[in-house]
Order: sequence, then structure tokens, then C-alpha cells
Amino acid sequence: MTVRHFLTLQDLTSDELHALLRRAIELKRMRTEGILHEPLRGRVLAMIFEKASTRTRVSFEAGMAQLGGSAMFLSPGDTQLERGEPIEDTARVLSRMVDAVMIRTFGHDVLERFAAVSDVPIINGLSDRHHPCQLLADMQTYLEHRGSIQGRTVAWIGDGNNMCNSYIDAAMQFDFQLRIACPPGFLPEQTLLQQAGDRVQVIHDPLAAAQGADLVVTDVWASMGQEDEQARRREAFRDYCVTAEIMAAAAPDALFMHCLPAHRGEEVAAEVIDGPQSVVWDEAENRLHAQKALLEFLLLGPT
Ligand code: CP
Ligand code: NVA
Repeated sequence: MTVRHFLTLQDLTSDELHALLRRAIELKRMRTEGILHEPLRGRVLAMIFEKASTRTRVSFEAGMAQLGGSAMFLSPGDTQLERGEPIEDTARVLSRMVDAVMIRTFGHDVLERFAAVSDVPIINGLSDRHHPCQLLADMQTYLEHRGSIQGRTVAWIGDGNNMCNSYIDAAMQFDFQLRIACPPGFLPEQTLLQQAGDRVQVIHDPLAAAQGADLVVTDVWASMGQEDEQARRREAFRDYCVTAEIMAAAAPDALFMHCLPAHRGEEVAAEVIDGPQSVVWDEAENRLHAQKALLEFLLLGPT
């Protein structure tokens, strides 16, 4: 089997992504019913975290354990990476010892360099440019609550960051319309916008972007690594809070999502994230099921 990586949503075909979501829902049902399913017995996932994490770490670690395998947490400070061992050498060594590697890093190029020489699948657990695992969970959550997202309208309110870039990929792969409301100067990647064509529109006014939307999504105003820009960003994003007024402009059955962690009173009002349209806890839980489906796919091939 040729090794497959998951650095962005574009590494899988649209059909593969749809099949993966169906499998995630099946794995979720099996877990609810207490059915033991351990196809990854003896397999090991190495996880390199250059940034903090709650959901990504716990979901991958629990997911590997539930599939019969195990996961190993590696912080760069405790490995030779921080002492300057080249990424490529690390990748070659790890791929002789473990079955897959998940990396949460700053530069997306770190993932690409790792993948270029790795004999085992590399999974993007978040980079400055993308967060594809979160999109698997978001798409699963929409499917469970509202059915197919094809032809629907999604409003992204906030920073044109890694999550926003992955939403652009998702719009192409899952065939929905995406409206992005971000302050000027905080746009997502231009090349992705060009690639997406008229499936994605940048509308700076959040209320206009939310008009009639089926799903409203946001994320923090300052991502990990941007802590020193927090004050400037708080000012720039002042009008980009997802409030009850924004949700009222969306379709009556619109859902609200946030990858978490969230800042109530900044990018989202407490009454929205804790309100009836919010599905953030299902969204967080689905990281587990969607990534188990991803691990099965990458390690065992399509089911
Ligand atoms: N959404 C997400 O990736 O959460 P963590 O940073 O806690 O992993
Ligand atoms: N955009 C956020 C997502 C956190 C899960 C960040 O990169 O910090």
C-alpha cells in the first residue's frame, strides 16, 4: 500500500472524505453499543506537540487505545528536535519505529518536510495554515444534525486563520458555499481563495455574511503563537463577535460551531455558545470518532 498522508483536506478525495465520515458515525455507534473494535492492535502513533492541546491530544490518545493500539506523546523539548536534529532525520527514525506520526506545529512546511521522507502516514494535528482533523469533526457534526452539507451556506466570522483555510478546503471537497467575514488585513490564503473560485466569497460585514446561513462558525481572534498581537487583534475584531443578532440573521435552524477553546464575550457571546443552536460539545466529541476513522483509513486502507 502506498503511504498516504493527511496534511490538508485535499490529501483525500471527496469520495474518501464522505466515506470517512460515514465510518466515523459507525465507529461512534459501535462505541455507544459497547462493541470492542481493535483493528490497530500492536500499532503505535507518535504525537509531536510543539503547541498546547486538550482535544487533539486526548482524542488521538484515546482513539488509538480504543482501536487496540497505543499513542506516544513527544514534546520537542524532550526530544533531539529542539537540540537541532534535522526534521528529515527525525522522520526517518520515527518511521522505522512507529506506524503513524501526528504533528502539531507552527510551520506547515515542517509537516511537508516530515511527510516527504516518511514511510508512515503523517497527520496534521494543526499547523499555522491548516487544521484538517477539526474539519472532519465539524463535517461529521453537521451531517449528524442536519444531513448533507452539499449546497448549504456556511458563514465564517472572524480571523482568516488555519481553521478558515481548512473551511475553504471543505467548501471545495464537500461542495458548499462559504462566506467569510473577516476584517480587512486578516484574510485567509489568497491561493486557496483563487482555487475555490465562486464557492467562497469574502464579505467583510458579519451580519451580511450570516444572512440565511445554515451554519455559523468562528474561532479565536489570536491563535497560538499570536499572543503578543492580542491587544491589536481585540481592537481589529471588535465587530466580529458572533452574537444573538448574528444568529438571528442566519437561517432559523442554523447551527453554531467553534473548534474550541473559546473566549466568551470575545469571538462569541455566551448566550450563543451555550445556547440551543450550539453543537460545540458534539463537535468536540466527534474529534474522537472522525480521527479513529482517519487512523483506520491511513493504516489499514479503505473499509
Ligand atoms: N480544537 C482543538 O484542536 O483543540 P485543542 O487545541 O485542545 O487540541
Ligand atoms: N486557530 C486556533 C485553533 C485552535 C484549535 C489556533 O491555531 O490556535
